[in-house]
Amino acid sequence: MKVALTYNLKKKDPLKPLDYFSEYDSEETINSVITALKNKGHSVEAIDVDYPALFSYFKKNRVDMVFNIAEGKHGRFRESEVPAVLDYLNIPYTGSETFSLALALNKALTKKILKAENIPTPNFQLFVRGDEELSADLVFPLIVKPNCEGSAKGINKTNVVNSREDLFRKVRECIDIYRQEALVEEFIEGKELTVGILENGKTRVLPILEIDFSNCKKSGEYFYSWKMKEFQGNTELGLVPEFYCPARLDKDIEEKVKDVALRTHRAVGCLDISRTDIRLDKSNTPYVLEINPLPGLDPKESNFPIMAYAAGMKYDDLIEAILISASERKRLN
Ligand SMILES: Nc1ncnc2c1ncn2[C@@H]1O[C@H](COP(=O)(O)OP(=O)(O)OP(=O)(O)O)[C@@H](O)[C@H]1O
Ligand SMILES: [Mg+2]
Repeated sequence: MKVALTYNLKKKDPLKPLDYFSEYDSEETINSVITALKNKGHSVEAIDVDYPALFSYFKKNRVDMVFNIAEGKHGRFRESEVPAVLDYLNIPYTGSETFSLALALNKALTKKILKAENIPTPNFQLFVRGDEELSADLVFPLIVKPNCEGSAKGINKTNVVNSREDLFRKVRECIDIYRQEALVEEFIEGKELTVGILENGKTRVLPILEIDFSNCKKSGEYFYSWKMKEFQGNTELGLVPEFYCPARLDKDIEEKVKDVALRTHRAVGCLDISRTDIRLDKSNTPYVLEINPLPGLDPKESNFPIMAYAAGMKYDDLIEAILISASERKRLN
């Protein structure tokens, strides 16, 4: 197949905030996807997304499929930008479509849909201005998160708050820095899990990945904060979470977690691939935190490939599975 890989490259710019490029992909990830596609016999053109250029590229060049991992550039619908251009040009692409990508990037809106579907998600409140009355239903500790970010941007250990005073300080800080609403959620103490879904002929829930932070005490970090994600594996900083795949869960709980992830994938309308982040509370209720329709695909660092390896797949097979799933859909349409 003639494939175009669309991506946004992670850059270094000392003038930008530290987490500015966190969502973007590294050269290693991009090169790994290119190599995997070539190993599977496809020809690949890699495109660092820049809009007028993207548009004219596809006007001039015909491809069979776009392998899309671009996170987009502007605003709260940014992950939908490339799919929107491709839809307009009637070019097929891998992964979720514009609507699901925009929805999943809006955590509060996604949570409303999960609630309507009876999928457990932490109780929450959205702060638009930062001076709203705190809902009496919410029980401390609470966590404050920017509503429309990923890669744990703006999520640090000080975002977990135990008082109204700290809460409102964090909410206002979040609104000021990230120029968007602050999502306040009950903080679920318990196991951190993430569930990969891969549609390859049939929908497949991959072995659940458990991330255990108990080894990270030296760092002071105790959940999947931005610092934990960005410096994961750094022994000097003590940011050395342990990964268990499959997760250490009883069979009935494992089934419950997988079911919740699959229902989330379907409720949001994801296609080909997704990764749902879940916290299991003390009574083993799986609370969905969010769903990622564009999960990281770094062959060594990212959670999704770890789950694919545990299912017996090689990296190349994972990339091929995403491509085949999208091609099947194109054939059926
Ligand atoms: N309500 C919560 N209770 C407990 N921990 C939470 C909660 N919300 C977030 N966290 C912690 O913060 C991490 C990041 O939160 P979340 O997944 O919502 O952000 P994100 O930026 O979308 O993440 P990603 O990097 O997966 O895109 C979670 O993996 C979890 O460790
Ligand atoms: Mg997450």
